[in-house]
Amino acid sequence: MKALITAGGKGTRLRPLTHTQNKHLLPIANKPILHYALEKMAHAGITEVGIITNQEGEEVKSAIGTGEQWGLHIVYIPQEAPLGLAHVVKISQDFIGDDPFIFYLGDNMVVGDLKKFIDVFEKDGSNCHLTLSKVKDPERFGVPELRNNRIISIEEKPQNPKSEFAVTGIYLYDSTIFKAVNSIKPSARGELEISDAHQYLLDNGYKISYSEITGWWKDTGKPEDVLEANRLILEHMEAYQKGMIDAASNVTGNVVVEEGANIINSVVRGPVVIGKNTIIENSFIGPFTSIGHNCTIRNSEVEFSIVLDRGEILDVGVRIEGSLLGTSARIVSSIGRPRSNRFVVGDQSLIEIR
Ligand code: G1P
Repeated sequence: MKALITAGGKGTRLRPLTHTQNKHLLPIANKPILHYALEKMAHAGITEVGIITNQEGEEVKSAIGTGEQWGLHIVYIPQEAPLGLAHVVKISQDFIGDDPFIFYLGDNMVVGDLKKFIDVFEKDGSNCHLTLSKVKDPERFGVPELRNNRIISIEEKPQNPKSEFAVTGIYLYDSTIFKAVNSIKPSARGELEISDAHQYLLDNGYKISYSEITGWWKDTGKPEDVLEANRLILEHMEAYQKGMIDAASNVTGNVVVEEGANIINSVVRGPVVIGKNTIIENSFIGPFTSIGHNCTIRNSEVEFSIVLDRGEILDVGVRIEGSLLGTSARIVSSIGRPRSNRFVVGDQSLIEIR
């Protein structure tokens, strides 16, 4: 079994963060999203992994490397343009050969291991095994129509979904998928849709089975999805404290304090992760917050948020909540007259003021 993981795309819904960073490298609980996928592959006993990058794939390549740290052997496959997920499969045919493989969208986060899906796929001898998850907004996804516990059709982003399930970004295939991706035509948005490849398999009598993901699954396309994934990962993380916590501070719940971090006269209520060499002083850090490395938070309150490396929040009078701060972003109190708010805001940023 080989693995194919996507790490391209433009991440348009996560701008401005994705202007300077590939979305698959954004940290969740201080670890790049892509690491979670690679850990899962290693845990499932897979060693041969192909990562699909866009033309600017150097960033992913230099961040992930050969895969040695996970015991993986990684090859990089550039996709010349965003021509769809079925196109990704198509250009990976040489790498996959005749092996069965798992196709994993690198921005998907799922709790638990992948082995159980691989086991079902291998046991039931189907050509394709899909993982489904119940969602509130199926029209955003590939949606299966089910009858008597079988998938009878699949539509991509349908206006009138035929079920409340999304086809998640974790797929298992044998090599018949290459017949499908080589036969289908681009959709109205000009992409080779993975849902059309699945429909091709159904139309041509191939067997598609499925599992339901009953824990949680998230496609981290939008800021609120990233915050939610962060919340869920923090809930399951193991706490440790390597940094300094002074006697005047109160740290409760599941809290990771990484090396060199300093918590001074502050309240930290987990689950929270505080990165290396970060200073938290006279502040409150509330649940479901990830603070990156080398940040400073002073005389401020932050909750249910992600602050990336070198971020600064200084003397801010209102609690910051549900927020995503990019690398080296600063929120500070303004001094002097007139009393006013001052902004230096990058393209496609969002600020909500009360
Ligand atoms: C893609 C697939 C869709 C699937 C989704 C899962 O959508 O086209 O069928 O349900 O991933 O994350 P996209 O994220 O490209 O809109």
